[in-house]
Amino acid sequence: MSGLIMVTGATGALGNQVVEFLLERVPADRVAALARRPEALAGLVERGVTVRRGDYEDPAGLAAAFDGVAKLLLISARSFTDAKTAHRNVIRAAKGAGVRHIHYTAVQRRAGSAFVIPQATEWDEYTEKELAASGLDVTVLRNSQYLESLGKLIGELPPDHSIRVPAGHTPTALAGCGDMAEATAAVLATDGHAGHSYTLAGSRAFTLDDVATVLGEITGTPVTYQDTPIEDYVAARTRAGMPEPWARFTGAWFQAIAAGEFTPTDDIERLIGRPTTSLRAFLTDTAADHLPRAV
Ligand SMILES: NC(=O)c1ccc[n+]([C@@H]2O[C@H](COP(=O)([O-])OP(=O)(O)OC[C@H]3O[C@@H](n4cnc5c(N)ncnc54)[C@H](OP(=O)(O)O)[C@@H]3O)[C@@H](O)[C@H]2O)c1
Repeated sequence: MSGLIMVTGATGALGNQVVEFLLERVPADRVAALARRPEALAGLVERGVTVRRGDYEDPAGLAAAFDGVAKLLLISARSFTDAKTAHRNVIRAAKGAGVRHIHYTAVQRRAGSAFVIPQATEWDEYTEKELAASGLDVTVLRNSQYLESLGKLIGELPPDHSIRVPAGHTPTALAGCGDMAEATAAVLATDGHAGHSYTLAGSRAFTLDDVATVLGEITGTPVTYQDTPIEDYVAARTRAGMPEPWARFTGAWFQAIAAGEFTPTDDIERLIGRPTTSLRAFLTDTAADHLPRAV
């Protein structure tokens, strides 16, 4: 398909890496990036990428920004914003501007699951209905929780080196943001994906017990994991200064792990031609974030 391939959210962690992996696969003059702050992407402009200003909350601006775009990656809006309106604005502006194919980043769900991740599941259901009604070609990328998000949520361990979160002992297959970005770029750069969805999860599952064990092995300091009731988790996080809505939101992502939402798939592996980043490799790179006093 000719025309530009545009990545929204290009100043963010996922979008920025998608653009970089796209540039490994297609000429820069086919790659476009949407940003609220295009000046932040001056380096991409120098490399031949088309950078346009656009805000999900500004339909007229979006329509202009999508001129000449054939494929669009809609990176979901941030939590605690009006994401439904934002996504609807993007879809309608894209259709009006002649975009033929939208790729959307949803959150992975276990088949038949009734679990609701706040600020995610309802948005995804709404957005997928809007996409289906648009008549455009659609590809949905169902992303697991990022390994990086798990790392940030665990954060610096307390003095007793315990991880106390409500994630149960259920295996979970989180993938690194970079692996998801590379797989997303592989889909964007090739044709034949209309009407398909891909579940961008890790190749192998692990439990939070495994996280503690592996972190302990890497740092040489025993780490324990204690499955923690959600109310205890929320109380501890709010005591540490986290606003309660955010504590409940982050707690829900751990509860999603406990509910078994993030099952392993080989979609990333097939798209990028190698297994996803392992838990051990990820923790080896990031161990210092958790045990600053011990490493
Ligand atoms: N699966 C997971 O574990 C996980 C974790 C984190 C996030 N997410 C979801 O995945 C999305 C991408 O993740 P990420 O790590 O790349 O997030 P991120 O680093 O926060 O980046 C979000 C991107 O979206 C852009 N954006 C936000 N609101 C916008 C608007 N109204 N108009 C235009 N652009 C807007 C931001 O632009 P600015 O630079 O201008 O703010 C930024 O480029 C998130 O927005 C969130 O929905 C998933």
